[in-house]
Amino acid sequence: MNILILGSGGRESALAYKLAQSPRTESLYVAPGNAGTGLWAQNVALDPLNFAQVKDFIIEHKVEMLVVGPEDPLVQGIHDYFLADANFRDLIIVGPCKDGARLEGSKRFAKEFMQRAGIPTAAYAVFEKGQLAQAKAFLKTLKPPYVLKADGLAAGKGVLIENSLAQAEKALEEMLENEMFGAASRQVVIEEFLSGIELSVFVLTDGTHYKILPEAKDYKKIGEGDRGLNTGGMGSVSPVAFADAAFMKKVEERIVKPTLNQLGKEKIPYAGFLFIGLMNVKGEPYVIEYNVRMGDPETEAVMPRIQSDLVEAFIAMHENRLDEVDLQIDPRQALCVMLVSGGYPEAYQKGFEVKGTEKVSPDTLLFHAGTKPDVTGRPLTSGGRVLAVVTLAEDLPSAMEKTYAEVEKVGFEGMYYRKDIGKDLCR
Ligand code: AMP
Ligand code: GLY
Repeated sequence: MNILILGSGGRESALAYKLAQSPRTESLYVAPGNAGTGLWAQNVALDPLNFAQVKDFIIEHKVEMLVVGPEDPLVQGIHDYFLADANFRDLIIVGPCKDGARLEGSKRFAKEFMQRAGIPTAAYAVFEKGQLAQAKAFLKTLKPPYVLKADGLAAGKGVLIENSLAQAEKALEEMLENEMFGAASRQVVIEEFLSGIELSVFVLTDGTHYKILPEAKDYKKIGEGDRGLNTGGMGSVSPVAFADAAFMKKVEERIVKPTLNQLGKEKIPYAGFLFIGLMNVKGEPYVIEYNVRMGDPETEAVMPRIQSDLVEAFIAMHENRLDEVDLQIDPRQALCVMLVSGGYPEAYQKGFEVKGTEKVSPDTLLFHAGTKPDVTGRPLTSGGRVLAVVTLAEDLPSAMEKTYAEVEKVGFEGMYYRKDIGKDLCR
């Protein structure tokens, strides 16, 4: 089977690594990919948002499976685009239609959906442009910190958490009246702050049946001890000790099943990954957000733990028989440390050579993210998050030791990374 993955980050590198292992895979393409994806797949210069261009490539290269890495093409309707054309009836698409992608594309839709399904989530209210006075009045009824969310996609930056009422009011005004996040913040969800530990739960579903994939925790802040600015993710671990069988049972019964039932009730077909970002509040799971794709950098820790053939699972998903799939999971601890450009998540320089990748141990996984090959094929930094270093070990302390020893071997000018990924979960 010929497979095309859309995207260029660490997540897509990890997907390419995993899909390349399948005996079903013949030609594997990543568009546009990065300087590392070439190890497992062929990079092709396509824009994932240019559906016509993707279509031409699919026809020319007889692609039978399309795996959509990021959310944008899904929210913009890439699945619907192919569904509308009878020539692509047999194309296996991993990722939901536009309707289902609203779970990520509109925070308002997601909150109202959860409310209809009785799924535990933070209390909230939604306000539109022109309702600033009402929105401010609602803020006054809440306790700090204040959580403000732009309704639409805002490149992962649309959530603001403000400690003072004055700051929250100012941010609200910027969002609603001055379109701080463009059209995405014409509607704002204001919600109750949940205090707890976050967990990323991943589900692969055909809309009826589902498989819960290994859970993960990501580390969003730039600084050690979870301090400083938010980033796209500085590292991840999988499994997560507190997500034991009892906790995951609650997640399955209170969140996963009701979500799929509600999708069914609302006649929203769904085929692909569903990522549930949740907060563990004193042992009880609450949904913070849905995403309609895998997480980054969680995928980098999750994929190495999936032992079963993921291509087979995608085929089963397409044929509505995911229940027949038996997913085997490696019980070992995966730990991923992200190496980032100096200055990130603020301004940073690009174009530095990534050195030492040939020195890492053979059982270490290097998933490139923001890298680009130069004319000779050497990797140059081209983004904030540059490279994910991943190892598997018997337990968390050994995984930390192993990954950080490998991190030492790699380098580029200005490189920064957090030295405490996993530390909070060591007992
Ligand atoms: P997002 O950019 O949508 O991934 O959300 C950013 C982050 O904001 C989440 O990962 C949480 O850390 C935090 N967050 C979002 N909603 C809440 C909430 N209701 N209570 C506490 N933290 C939240
Ligand atoms: N790691 C969080 C995300 O992918 O949205």
